Order: sequence, then C-alpha cells, then structure tokens
Amino acid sequence: MTFEYKVADISLAEAGRHQIRLAEHEMPGLMSLRKEFGPEQPLKGARIAGSLHMTVQTAVLIETLTALGAEVRWASCNIFSTQDEAAAAVVVGKGTVEDPQGVPVFAWKGETLEEYWWTAEQILTWPGADTNPELGPNMILDDGGDATMLVHKGVEFEAVGTVPSAAPEDSEEYGIFLEVLRRSLATDPHKWTRTAATIKGVSEETTTGVHRLYQLADQGKLLFPAINVNDSVTKSKFDNKYGIRHSLPDGINRATDVLMGGKVAVVCGYGDVGKGAAEALRGQGSRVIVTEIDPICALQAAMDGYQVAKLESVLPQGDIFITTTGNKDVIMAEHMAGMKNKAIVGNIGHFDNEIDIAGLARVPGVKKVEIKPQVHEWVFDEGTDGERSIIVLSEGRLLNLGNATGHPSFVMSNSFANQTIAQIELWTKRDQDEYENKVYVLPKVLDEKVARLHLDALGVELTELSKDQAEYLDIDAAGPYKPEHYRY
Ligand code: NAI
Repeated sequence: MTFEYKVADISLAEAGRHQIRLAEHEMPGLMSLRKEFGPEQPLKGARIAGSLHMTVQTAVLIETLTALGAEVRWASCNIFSTQDEAAAAVVVGKGTVEDPQGVPVFAWKGETLEEYWWTAEQILTWPGADTNPELGPNMILDDGGDATMLVHKGVEFEAVGTVPSAAPEDSEEYGIFLEVLRRSLATDPHKWTRTAATIKGVSEETTTGVHRLYQLADQGKLLFPAINVNDSVTKSKFDNKYGIRHSLPDGINRATDVLMGGKVAVVCGYGDVGKGAAEALRGQGSRVIVTEIDPICALQAAMDGYQVAKLESVLPQGDIFITTTGNKDVIMAEHMAGMKNKAIVGNIGHFDNEIDIAGLARVPGVKKVEIKPQVHEWVFDEGTDGERSIIVLSEGRLLNLGNATGHPSFVMSNSFANQTIAQIELWTKRDQDEYENKVYVLPKVLDEKVARLHLDALGVELTELSKDQAEYLDIDAAGPYKPEHYRY
C-alpha cells in the first residue's frame, strides 16, 4: 500500500535504520514498554498526530507507539531539527524504498516556515476524515504546542467565521500560521471543530508547550485533557539538564569547532536547561556567567559557583552567549551590536524569539554571511573600530537540534517512556471521565517506574527499603518514595 509522506530523500532509509537499531540499544525504557505492552496493544484504535523533532530517537518513539497498536502521522516541531535519514527510515518501516510501509512522515531538515505549517497541517489531516470524522486523528503528541495551537486557533476562528489579519507586532511566522487557517476556513469551514471533537487528549513534551497548555486551561479554553510530560521528574530533571549538558557543546562544536576552554560563556536563564548548559560549558573549561530574573535561580547559580550578572554588564566580556529562558527578547540587536568580535550567539530554548534576529537584520549596514547551513556571520558596518562580526547559530532556533542531532538516546528514552505512558493513560481512559479538560502530570509511581527501567543498563544497584524502614518513613516499600511536593 502506498501512502502520503514527504521527506528529503527516501533512499537514506538504510542509513537511518542502522542508527535506529543502535539507538534502540540505548533506549531501554522504550524497549521494555514494547515488551510489557506489545501483547496487550493498549494503543489500538489511537490515531496519533505527532509533532516532535524528527530525530533518530523520535523514530524509536514512533515505532514504539505503532508496536503498541497506534496509527501515527508525524511532523517535526522545528524547521531545522529533522534528521533526514531517520525520517526516511520511519517512512520505509518494514517495507522497501520502492514500497514503503512505515509511518507517514512530513519532515525534512531546512523547511521554510510555509512548509513547516504545511507539515503541521498534514499530521492533522487524515485521509477520509473530511467525510468521516472517525478516520481523523484522536490523539496529539506535541512538543512546544504548535499542533495543539493549530487545532485551538482553528476552532476559535471557525466559531467567528473569520481569521484576523496579523498585527504589526506579530512575527512573520504568526502571519504564515494565520494564512494556513484562512485557507482551511475557505475550503473546509468546520475542519478544526470536527478535528477537535475527535481528539481525546494531548501529551506535551516541553516547558514552553506546557506553559501554553496551562494558559489555555486557566482561560477555560482547553478543548481536551492534557498530560504535562515535561514535569515528570524523569523528563525535566534529566532531558532538560543532562540532555542539554550533552547536546549544547555538541552543537557549538559542530557549528564552530571553537575551543570553549578559557572562554567566557554567558548563559541566560538558570532553570533546568540553563543548569545543564552552564555545567557543560564549565566542564569544557569556560568561565561561565549566568543571567537570571528569578532570585531563587540566581542564588542557586551563585552557590554553584557562577558569577551572576546582568547581560548588559558582561556584553564586552562574553565569547559565547546561550539563551535558555523560554522567554522572548532576551538578547536584542543592541546587545549583539555591543559584543566582542566573533562572539558566538545561540539559543537552546524552544522558540526563536529569545534572540532578536529580525532586529539584527535591521541594524544599518549589517551584512549576513552564510558560513555553512545554520551558521551565519553577521558583519557590522566597519565604523571607526574596524570590522567586527558575531556568529549566530541556527538563526536563533534551538542550536542543539539545528547544529547537532539533539539529545542522546539514553536520556530521550526517559522522556519518551513518559510520552508513551501518557498516551496510554489518555487513550485507555478516554471513556472513563477520569481526565477533564485540564493539565495533569503522571502519577509519581509511573515516574519512578520510568527511572527504574533505566537502572539496569547503567549497572545501578538500588537499595531496598526494609519493612521496618518503610513503616518508619510511612511509605510503601514499593513506592512512591517521595511526597508530591518533593522537588528533587
Ligand atoms: P525553566 O522555566 O526551568 O527555566 C527558564 C529560566 O529562565 C527560569 O529560571 C527563568 O527565571 C529564567 N528567565 C526567564 N526570563 C529570563 C530573562 N529575561 N533573563 C534571564 N533569565 C530568564 O525552563 P527550562 O525547562 O529550563 O526550559 C527552558 C527552555 O528550553 C524552554 O523553552 C523549553 O521548552 C526549552 N527546552 C529545550 C530543549 C532542547 O533540547 N533544546 C530541551 C528541554 C527544554
């Protein structure tokens, strides 16, 4: 059977398959979920629209979901993050390049913004669903919330019968997004309302997407239940921290190969991602300076031995600047104009609005030179102090996925085991009224289970609580071991 898909080059499938095979060995969480739940097929009937970086690790997630019975359509949640060989291998699946039999994937490295939103639409547009909604998607697996936003905004605009024009302060991307909805309203005025009605839930991967979900829930606008995967301890305290500790230097190295030792690195934000970033840079011998707005995180950074300063105070000192805030307008054009010659600027937070690339392009006389894809030198007008330039990675999008291949498999096995469990929870309990249109986190016992699935592979010997000790602590010897308020 042929099916729709769009990837860069289907003939890369074999290369992708080799990498997926090696990744499976490093993803014990996902592989043991396949073993545990494969026979039961708990995701049978689930039709999952997935929007998450189309990497080798994600390929193992996708094939876990299908091994548990789900049908899946997939797109990347970032224009630069796809690994083309992984996308090709997922499409081919158990078939051949000539007769692919895997999963419809719509993702390639280097999408335009128009293409990006086209791919997002494709994962929510299932064959036959226009006449029979039962054939449409009934679950979303999201990273950053774009697929969820498409459905919610679509429903909102269909209700009023019109899509507004972008405001002058809106980004170019938002204008493109509105155009997609304008087109769909013109051709199928109930598409998103119909789609939303069949969706039983969403599981969300990252801090920024979770933030959007809580906003929708607080406004009473969330259209289906959501599981916040990010705030499983085995996600945010591992992927966001140890994953970044690995993939940030990987991105900087592949992009620039500049020696980090001895350099001054400025990390904006000291949340989970910032902590991993600062540790990685210090590990390379950089002198790290942190910026923060939250006194608790600022104090943590200081106690961890980092200088904490305002960005403005350290602009001329920094050799490397990394944003990790999930906030907007963190490094502005005027900041970049004040940096030293050949300073490197990159973002590892979810969206590209942390660094003001649009403002940089408006600096009088500035020139953009492509060193290689996802590495650009911005040369400032010579002025009186000679030529000066800065190096911007991945055009301000998350550099660990744009310049490298994202987090390694082992840490993603933790994140994606949480994703798989969340999908099973929402899908199998869809008719039990257990989940309302609110945002939930997985129960601690499942969080502990995810950790447990990864211990053997690292040779961890876990101490067992005696009955007496368990009674003394007033907990079950089988867990959960900590109260909900414990912060790890
Ligand atoms: P977090 O909320 O734990 O940390 C962000 C920190 O930035 C907070 O401590 C906050 O006080 C600080 N902050 C906010 N505005 C600031 C400003 N103007 N200047 C300095 N500090 C500021 O969030 P987390 O989990 O660390 O995630 C950060 C971002 O990274 C999110 O967008 C998240 O979605 C993304 N992320 C990216 C990953 C990747 O692979 N690239 C992996 C995981 C998360």
